[in-house]
Amino acid sequence: MAMTPLDASAPVGPPLWLLAELTYRCPLQCPYCSNPLDFARSGDELSTAQWLDVLRQGRELGAAQLGFSGGEPLVRQDLAELIGGARALGYYTNLITSGLGLSDAKVAAFAAAGLDHIQISFQASDPELNDALAGSRKAFRQKLAMARAVKAAGYPMVLNFVIHRHNIHQMPQILQLCEQLDADYVELATCQYYGWAFRNREGLMPSQAQLRAAESQVNDYRARLHARGAPMKLIFVTPDYYESRPKACMNGWGSLFLTVAPDGTALPCHSARLLPIDFPNVRTMSLAEIWYHSPGFNHYRGDAWMPEPCRSCEDKARDFGGCRCQAYLLTGDADNADPVCDKSPYHDRILAARTAADHARTGLDDLLYRNARNSRLLYRG
Ligand code: FES
Repeated sequence: MAMTPLDASAPVGPPLWLLAELTYRCPLQCPYCSNPLDFARSGDELSTAQWLDVLRQGRELGAAQLGFSGGEPLVRQDLAELIGGARALGYYTNLITSGLGLSDAKVAAFAAAGLDHIQISFQASDPELNDALAGSRKAFRQKLAMARAVKAAGYPMVLNFVIHRHNIHQMPQILQLCEQLDADYVELATCQYYGWAFRNREGLMPSQAQLRAAESQVNDYRARLHARGAPMKLIFVTPDYYESRPKACMNGWGSLFLTVAPDGTALPCHSARLLPIDFPNVRTMSLAEIWYHSPGFNHYRGDAWMPEPCRSCEDKARDFGGCRCQAYLLTGDADNADPVCDKSPYHDRILAARTAADHARTGLDDLLYRNARNSRLLYRG
């Protein structure tokens, strides 16, 4: 991905990637969900007409990639209409789904409407663990059926597994399952800690030894696939908490990504609403005004906002000081360097989390599951 020069006076480019978080409703209860903890008190969802207008404005601004996510976007009864609208506007569209609520008929309808790409997520390689993590007894069976339906409809099979301490030991079985399903791309995304995942971090974070073992299993499996000429591609995403330099989160704040939350709040990343920043809403401001002129989107552009050690760091044009949401969650101040960076004065918080993960003895019962009841309980009064 091309890096932009870090110059506060440089012109802002267009938002090439638009993420439409259509809803926070979801039939599953994954404890690693990155949705906000207080999603249950979010305002009304945008209507079909409002979403279509957002998509039109996004395209006029230059957005080319469009993701439909949530929550579970299949909960929206107007999804085929939104896909059709996006196709007519010329977007490349991607549906990010649990597969719950999908059917052969819906796959066909989405294909007819012009959907380009579908990604289905799994929780584990067996029904017991998968359904315990998902909080749904039928989830695994449904996911298998829908993964096959997506492939049968001519789409590449793209599977996503969020990896954490409760399923990381299943890596060999996960890889076998993916091959049995004839997957084309598999994303093995070690959990990142935002939203519900941050609340459950102690119960989710794998130890370094677990992580290294899993990574080496993936590398071995990839080598065997290559030797056999098998086409399945494996992408292993290492967690920030085991890095010593931060990621260039979102390729820089307000650089490429624009997320619109279910209630119309516009965000530079899917987690940013946890920050103490007043973000604009598409109900009251045009997308162009939001992207180019709103204080929320300009807040962390350039480097004028950076304190030390980022300000004088030679890597600042590469990593932009890391992730603002992670800085806020771990230090209480989003201006700080991402504590993942070993130059950060707060890096000890990352090291402490690693040590805690080495000694954690938590079970599934210790996790707080992501559902509306728990969301309300957290924020009552
Ligand atoms: Fe929000 Fe990194 S997730 S800036």
